[in-house]
Amino acid sequence: MAETVIVPDAATGGALAADAIESLVRARPDAVLGLATGSTPLTVWRSLAGRGLDFSRVRGFALDEYVGLPPGDPRSYRATIDAEVVDVLGLDPALVHVPGDGLSGAELAGAGERYERLIAAAGGVDLQVLGVGRTGHIGFNEPGSSFASRTRLKTLMRVSREDNARFFDGDVEAVPMHCVTQGLGTILDAGRLVLLAFGEAKADAVAAAVEGPVTASMPASAIQLHRDVLVIVDEAAAARLRFADYYREVWDNRPAWSR
Ligand code: GLP
Repeated sequence: MAETVIVPDAATGGALAADAIESLVRARPDAVLGLATGSTPLTVWRSLAGRGLDFSRVRGFALDEYVGLPPGDPRSYRATIDAEVVDVLGLDPALVHVPGDGLSGAELAGAGERYERLIAAAGGVDLQVLGVGRTGHIGFNEPGSSFASRTRLKTLMRVSREDNARFFDGDVEAVPMHCVTQGLGTILDAGRLVLLAFGEAKADAVAAAVEGPVTASMPASAIQLHRDVLVIVDEAAAARLRFADYYREVWDNRPAWSR
């Protein structure tokens, strides 16, 4: 089921995504979650934290990581995931994986394949949380990424580095140029995708992701190839959706059994 839900604000959106994760973890205490960094999913983790759920057996796989930051650097996605997700939810750090974690140079060869094997050994990701970048990236799959791509090294677009410069004292040159990211094919293998986007800066990417065309030039449009996608957007991010009224109608009139 592909569903786009337009919510009044980010907190409501985060709570809705948290509902989906809560049902999963209640049904499957050792569920495999696909974890995303960025500002957008923070509302999800915050909402989940107050629900009295036991996350101690939940397994986690992050989408991506910068290449070249020293191990333990607070701006690394490993540190971010630890602070914003692992600590907040009470996950077991040993069960949470980040691609290319702490590796550099030649050590990175084969990191993608090893990460893919880890995900496969866990039985695959049950639910993948996604944000979207202004370039349309999910994970760090920039335009041109193959829909069949797997975890691998990528080069960031300048605009993505500019967007992330806020975590590097505004210095775009300090933002690493390379990263390791799950591929679009890896992401599409997850059982369910939950993509969140808030604010007007995301309106173009959201419209292109949800309503197409499906093209590698807009990596987030790959979600249209997945059969179970929940897209959660606020009014500002929904501003350029052609069928916004229809999505509202679908949500407002959803049958009781599907609520
Ligand atoms: C980051 C991450 C993505 C994230 C996106 C949007 O650079 N690599 O996984 O979805 O860009 O970030 P934000 O939610 O802060 O807007």
